[in-house]
Amino acid sequence: MIGTKLLGSLNFEEASPIKNILIVPIVAIALCTSLVFARAAEPVGTKRIINNFLPGSVTKDEGLRYWRKFHEVASHPRCSNCHVGPDNIPMWSGSSYGETRPHGMKINAGKSRIGAETLLCAACHTSLKKPNPAANAPLHSPPKVTGIWGLAPVSAAWFGMSSNHICNQIKDPQRNGNRSIRDVAAHLGHDAVLRWAWSPGGNREPPPRTLQEAMDNLMKWAAAGAPCPGE
Ligand code: HEC
Ligand code: HEC
Repeated sequence: MIGTKLLGSLNFEEASPIKNILIVPIVAIALCTSLVFARAAEPVGTKRIINNFLPGSVTKDEGLRYWRKFHEVASHPRCSNCHVGPDNIPMWSGSSYGETRPHGMKINAGKSRIGAETLLCAACHTSLKKPNPAANAPLHSPPKVTGIWGLAPVSAAWFGMSSNHICNQIKDPQRNGNRSIRDVAAHLGHDAVLRWAWSPGGNREPPPRTLQEAMDNLMKWAAAGAPCPGE
């Protein structure tokens, strides 16, 4: 049922045979490239490190301040455009897109979150062998990373969510991929998408401050007992 709905939203039933002939090999090639390159992602960052802060060394008020800094990153379009809910529709938001709107071309990532049901994200967001800012430089080109491009899990939906909601999600192992906050910070440090976010190309803006500072802010927040604004 959901499949029919997704197909409908891409108007496949109206696609001419010629379009089908073109789409099938494009998707197949993109799938193969993304599988080959998925393992070629950069190794755990050499320049980014996890700094430890002793539990209790940061007060609750300071902890809330560090959370707010991290929230400015999590709610930034470079993150929230992919961290969307169960409608599986990526967003186009941020100053380079003008008005906030759903991804053009009726893209829907489906339950797979990578577009496997209809058109793979990788058909346009091809995987890079190694980080290459030139590949993302042209205006309005589909962003490319050294990994598979797709939506974050529904449990980590941030778009349009409150700071308190995102705060509670990030520290909840049931909803964050069974991670400690340290694991989350480490994930940020070695994730290919995160590296792209800080050098996104085109005229897209990166999130505020640096990736290292985002990791430090999470760790300082954890040292304060990970307080959330609603507590
Ligand atoms: C291309 C889409 C995309 C973008 C852009 C993106 N993410 Fe993600 N994110 C994902 C996917 C896919 C996962 C699941 C992979 C995993 O957990 O290893 C994920 C998982 C996460 C997680 C894991 C923990 C959790 O809460 O589930 C964190 C933290 C995270 N992203 C932070 C960020 C931040 C911060 C940014 C912006 C700087 C960002 N992401 C931008 C796709 C994206
Ligand atoms: C037909 C080509 C095409 C397909 C397929 C496609 N995209 Fe895109 N995507 C683009 C283009 C082009 C842009 C950049 C548009 C611009 O900058 O004006 C983009 C931008 C994005 C952005 C915004 C990134 C940012 O923050 O600037 C997200 C998120 C995104 N795509 C997610 C996806 C996901 C998830 C899929 C698979 C379900 C997907 N896209 C499939 C072409 C595509």
